[in-house]
Amino acid sequence: MYRPLKFHTFPILGLFLILAGVFPGSPVGAADPDPKNGAYILTAAGCVGCHTTKKNREEGRLLSGGRMLKTPFGVFYSPNITPDPEHGLGKWTEANFIEAMRNGKNPDGEHYLPVFPYTSFTKITDKDMRDLWAHLKARPALADANIPHGAPLIFRMRFTIGPWKMINFKAGAFEPRQDQNAEWNRGAYLVNALSHCGECHTPRNLMGGLKSTMYHAGAKDGPEGEPIPNVTMDKATGIGEWSVNDLDTLFSMGMLPDGDFVGGGMAEVVENISKLTADDRKAIITYIRTVPAINNKIK
Ligand code: HEC
Ligand code: HEC
Repeated sequence: MYRPLKFHTFPILGLFLILAGVFPGSPVGAADPDPKNGAYILTAAGCVGCHTTKKNREEGRLLSGGRMLKTPFGVFYSPNITPDPEHGLGKWTEANFIEAMRNGKNPDGEHYLPVFPYTSFTKITDKDMRDLWAHLKARPALADANIPHGAPLIFRMRFTIGPWKMINFKAGAFEPRQDQNAEWNRGAYLVNALSHCGECHTPRNLMGGLKSTMYHAGAKDGPEGEPIPNVTMDKATGIGEWSVNDLDTLFSMGMLPDGDFVGGGMAEVVENISKLTADDRKAIITYIRTVPAINNKIK
């Protein structure tokens, strides 16, 4: 005999739908963020180096900011990015974090200065950003106050960055190239989105934007005023004569083909990429060996 559905069956139906993930609000398709991958991304991107003073680093108080960054545009200090609610990111949402990394804007909608290399980090995929955020917010909160930037006023006025971004910044996640294989694309992603090699190895225009036509061709005055070698495949002025093995020795232990060890900013980069998987280092090498040669003598 036909029996109409009784009213009290609806809550049960609702519960069933929630469990089945049909209702909005239940995470259908979006996997839970993976903080372990977030920690890996943190290493590949070198966040600790810029966001930690030398002293705090020795004491294991990571990401509490205050590191002095001397640039051709003046002196800047990195902020505290631990989950401290007063001095760090304790009150931020995941959306605030993604907006900062993808679009270079703070929760009030103001522009970040490009000394925070969001020009590269904008290319990080949504998944890696969410994983990174899950890792950051699970770290210990450290209550170190931020230090105001010391650069001349003109280089710390946030509204001037709007027009700068229109010329020098393109927001958007990395898109793999269909005409290249998975290894090359992984290398391109690590180099351009995470390890931001070009932020040092590509020279800048007078506005401080990267000169894309000189990609990886080196600069006489790097971020801290030091010369930055040409790392394109040019045989005379770049690394065109380096073997895969030479590059692997540099990226895994910091040693140059002449037996010297790299210093400056590159020593920190090596410290990070030497901790990546061997496959990821191989991908970086595969990719950088395809960067077109540009003749540009630095030293
Ligand atoms: C080259 C140095 C450098 C690196 C590398 C770097 N940052 Fe920063 N970051 C800065 C500076 C400097 C600022 C401040 C920018 C400003 O005042 O506009 C900043 C700002 C930020 C902010 C905004 C904080 C706030 O209080 O508004 C976040 C979030 C952040 N960085 C996260 C990261 C993460 C995550 C990484 C690694 C993926 C990273 N940064 C790597 C230098 C760096
Ligand atoms: C913070 C700035 C900075 C970043 C980021 C950076 N480098 Fe370097 N790199 C340097 C400096 C400075 C040197 C020269 C170091 C020395 O000789 O002591 C260097 C040296 C090198 C060399 C050796 C070149 C030669 O002729 O001796 C290679 C290869 C290289 N970098 C590749 C990379 C790659 C690949 C990345 C990204 C994974 C990267 N660098 C990221 C600053 C940087």
